[in-house]
Amino acid sequence: MHIYDQAMVLLTCITFFFLILPTSTSLDTILVHQNISDGETIVSGNTKFELGFFSPGNSKSRYLGIWFKNTSPQTVVWVANRETPLLDNSGAVKLDTQGNLTLVNGSGKVIWSSNSSASGIDINLVAQLLDTGNMVVKNGNTTNDEGNFMWQSFDYPGDTCLPGIKLGKNFISGRETYHTSWRSADDPAQGEYTLKALVVKGKFPQMYIRRNTIIKTRTGPYNGISFSGPANYAPDANPAAVSYVIENQNGIYITYISKSNTTTLRAIVTPSGKLEIWQIKFPNPEWMLIATSPEDYCDNYGVCGSYGSCTIVTSPNCGCLKGFELKKSDETNPDNDTSVCRRSIALDCGPREGFLKFSSMKLPDTENASFSSNISLLDCEVACKNNCSCTAFANPYVTPGRVGCLLWYGDLIDVRVFSQKGQDLYVRLAASELPEFNSNFHGKKRLVLVVALSISAMLTLLGFILALCIRRKWKMSSDARRSSQMGSAGLVVPLFGLSKISRATNEFSIDNILGEGGFGPVYKGVLEEGLEIAVKRLSKSSQQGLDEFKNEVICIAKLQHRNLVKLLGYCIQGDERMLIYEHMPNKSLDGFLFDGSRKSLLDWSQRFNIISGIARGLLYLHEDSRLKVVHRDLKAGNILLDHKMCPKISDFGLARMFKEDERETNTKRVVGTLGYISPEYAMNGHFSVKSDIFSFGVLVLEIVSGKKNRDFVHEDHDNNLLGHAWRLHKEGKSLDLIDECLHPSNSACEVSRSVHIGLLCVQQRVEDRPNTPTLVAMLGGEGSLPSPKKPAFFIQESGIRSTSILPLPLASLNGVTLSEIYGR
Ligand SMILES: *[C@@H]1O[C@H](CO)[C@@H](O)[C@H](O)[C@H]1NC(C)=O
Ligand SMILES: *[C@@H]1O[C@H](CO)[C@@H](O)[C@H](O)[C@H]1NC(C)=O
Ligand SMILES: *[C@@H]1O[C@H](CO)[C@@H](O)[C@H](O)[C@H]1NC(C)=O
Ligand SMILES: *[C@@H]1O[C@H](CO)[C@@H](O)[C@H](O)[C@H]1NC(C)=O
Ligand SMILES: *[C@@H]1O[C@H](CO)[C@@H](O)[C@H](O)[C@H]1NC(C)=O
Ligand SMILES: *[C@@H]1O[C@H](CO)[C@@H](O)[C@H](O)[C@H]1NC(C)=O
Ligand SMILES: *[C@@H]1O[C@H](CO)[C@@H](O)[C@H](O)[C@H]1NC(C)=O
Ligand SMILES: *[C@@H]1O[C@H](CO)[C@@H](O)[C@H](O)[C@H]1NC(C)=O
Ligand SMILES: *[C@@H]1O[C@H](CO)[C@@H](O)[C@H](O)[C@H]1NC(C)=O
Ligand SMILES: *[C@@H]1O[C@H](CO)[C@@H](O)[C@H](O)[C@H]1NC(C)=O
Repeated sequence: MHIYDQAMVLLTCITFFFLILPTSTSLDTILVHQNISDGETIVSGNTKFELGFFSPGNSKSRYLGIWFKNTSPQTVVWVANRETPLLDNSGAVKLDTQGNLTLVNGSGKVIWSSNSSASGIDINLVAQLLDTGNMVVKNGNTTNDEGNFMWQSFDYPGDTCLPGIKLGKNFISGRETYHTSWRSADDPAQGEYTLKALVVKGKFPQMYIRRNTIIKTRTGPYNGISFSGPANYAPDANPAAVSYVIENQNGIYITYISKSNTTTLRAIVTPSGKLEIWQIKFPNPEWMLIATSPEDYCDNYGVCGSYGSCTIVTSPNCGCLKGFELKKSDETNPDNDTSVCRRSIALDCGPREGFLKFSSMKLPDTENASFSSNISLLDCEVACKNNCSCTAFANPYVTPGRVGCLLWYGDLIDVRVFSQKGQDLYVRLAASELPEFNSNFHGKKRLVLVVALSISAMLTLLGFILALCIRRKWKMSSDARRSSQMGSAGLVVPLFGLSKISRATNEFSIDNILGEGGFGPVYKGVLEEGLEIAVKRLSKSSQQGLDEFKNEVICIAKLQHRNLVKLLGYCIQGDERMLIYEHMPNKSLDGFLFDGSRKSLLDWSQRFNIISGIARGLLYLHEDSRLKVVHRDLKAGNILLDHKMCPKISDFGLARMFKEDERETNTKRVVGTLGYISPEYAMNGHFSVKSDIFSFGVLVLEIVSGKKNRDFVHEDHDNNLLGHAWRLHKEGKSLDLIDECLHPSNSACEVSRSVHIGLLCVQQRVEDRPNTPTLVAMLGGEGSLPSPKKPAFFIQESGIRSTSILPLPLASLNGVTLSEIYGR
């Protein structure tokens, strides 16, 4: 037994010896006079990282590098000899007594060295791979504090940023630490792209990706947690890492730490110039790409020019910030068509100048901005206001309670709108561009307005008499001689020449068609000045006289409200009649609501804003404008969205132009759109504001559910969307109606109230539907709501049913429109 025991011990020792000795995997250090040759590796104490020789991709060349030990595929984070590969497996790395870590090839030739050096010979030196993936040279008896490191690989990063790497500048040595891309996946040599932090005393940090010297993309400024941009695309609201800025007399650096031991983030600049952020959640060994920058068109640096703003959901993506408009960059040279965003109204640094708040923004380039910490937003505004060259300000921090003041001087560059997690930017504008100015105008300046209106009324009367006199002449005059403006009660509607509109719309090219409404196609155009327009080319069936047409235009132009599309002008030539509207970059609501891939761009608060905005627009049409207008074709396709997703009702007031037509062919001509039409209108041709309320109710239920009333099918019953909503409401499950792509957990109340209001609007009996002021009040959250009864048309319409209730040929129904204007 005794002998046997001894033999066992010996055997165990031998086994142990053979298991351990051939490779030094248990070691995390290289000692003086020791060397690691190809095939051997050292591993960090936590076994996360490994240092050794490798060949990237399809390459045969050998490199000394550090990689994540247990992740797949092999993820290299640092390379020593990036530019000087070994051509075979004969290399070795060793540490000399001065602390110089060197890589030699088979002939003993040094092909890379760390150049670190101790003050004298120190046999206790080690090169150690730390748990962070940092290879350091230090005295082996000292702690792992940065002050003890003679050299560290974190000071010479390659394409990969790990927690703890500090990008920035040492003001004493002048040395800058930044990332450079690999040349290709097979070649770690320095590529074309760099990722550098803007680290200058007094300037606010942000990061640039440059191709050679040209800035390709910029992360937004530091926001207290990370750098906006890639962080805005990352799905995780609670990031696994936190960035912070280190500033002392020696330098400024930015760095980040992982918040949990089981999650690691790494950032990499790829050979094609993208910043990618990858995340791993141990023990799952696979990397997940969580964010990329540039991710989309708007991430291209300064793509919309100074004072331009890029929005990915609009087409085109570029526009000017509000208060700015496209103007020719070179007015002296007529051949140069390049346009840039310039102020609509110049600044004069007067006391009434102020700031307009832009929300959800990527803050502009901070290169020329100044920063002061711990300054409140109010004091920041005062600071900006007091310096005439200050163009904008913002609090860069998103963390609650943390304040700072960023002041921009000069142009605002590289601004974009984020779909989520953007920041507020306050831009200096002339007094008349600010909403306060306009409300003052309506309040305090009422008297002035009254006087102005009286004067203009007199002028109108004079103009009318004059017009009567020259009417004959008018009729005979050619287009060219037509006055370019016409006025009524101070209202000016510009007349556009056909040639101008034709040029703007690329000769009414099919490619420019935005949509086809009941009164003819709508074209997108860009005027030479750069202004984008939508041109409604009225179908020739309305053979209206010139004067009548002009009167209608004036009527429509009088309808002005922030929730109505604005008429910019008109065009008459021969039998062409056109209305020119402001262009709505986001097109119509149906393009979002009913499109599987775009519907998630509309979150609940936006949807609710849209519902409320439409209601306010309707209130104006029904009650507040001088004309009482029933729209008669309210539907998702007629709700346009501006760049801030603010809804604008379109196609209102058009019926007047087609009045005669309608009278003539009441049964042939169309009276709305199936799915939105009220029962009394469909069956008896009776319409009133309450018919619009009905359509509005359908629209509300569509906005909540993201489903078309017309196309709605349910596997369990044959109710249409209205019937389905009612059924859910009765069962107390209104929230189930909500679009699957929404998770409005903290607006449940608003959702169910909206469904309730929608149902009240689609009641069979006209008197059961709310009137418009009540509707707006209800949406404002006022008062308790009556219980809805069974809605009209709650069964899915079949073709037969549709034709039986509508004395109209079905084919002509889609998208066609009529409305009516009553004089009050
Ligand atoms: C590595 O060290 C071993 C002894 O430990 C020595 O025989 C060998 O020559 C060294 N290789 C290099 C390249 O220095
Ligand atoms: C080592 O490098 C030198 C100089 O680059 C070269 O001449 C030599 O052939 C290399 N030896 C091996 C074994 O690669
Ligand atoms: C070390 O010094 C040599 C010679 O001065 C130089 O060629 C090499 O680039 C330096 N290595 C590093 C990593 O800076
Ligand atoms: C480190 O070693 C290399 C190769 O022997 C040498 O060229 C370099 O000067 C050394 N650096 C220092 C700081 O000793
Ligand atoms: C320093 O480390 C060496 C081995 O690396 C050891 O022999 C020596 O005792 C240590 N000295 C102290 C003061 O700990
Ligand atoms: C992370 O690791 C550190 C050091 O190993 C340990 O002190 C800490 O408790 C760990 N934290 C978590 C959340 O596991
Ligand atoms: C037009 O003017 C801008 C700004 O002055 C200039 O950058 C651009 O090169 C000019 N383009 C042409 C075609 O001359
Ligand atoms: C900052 O100012 C410099 C010098 O006027 C200018 O060249 C540069 O374009 C400006 N940068 C930004 C982002 O405005
Ligand atoms: C920030 O300012 C407030 C009041 O101005 C002061 O009470 C607070 O101590 C300041 N905080 C820091 C971190 O300086
Ligand atoms: C306004 O700010 C600029 C830039 O910081 C500065 O150069 C200038 O002196 C300031 N002007 C005033 C009146 O404070």
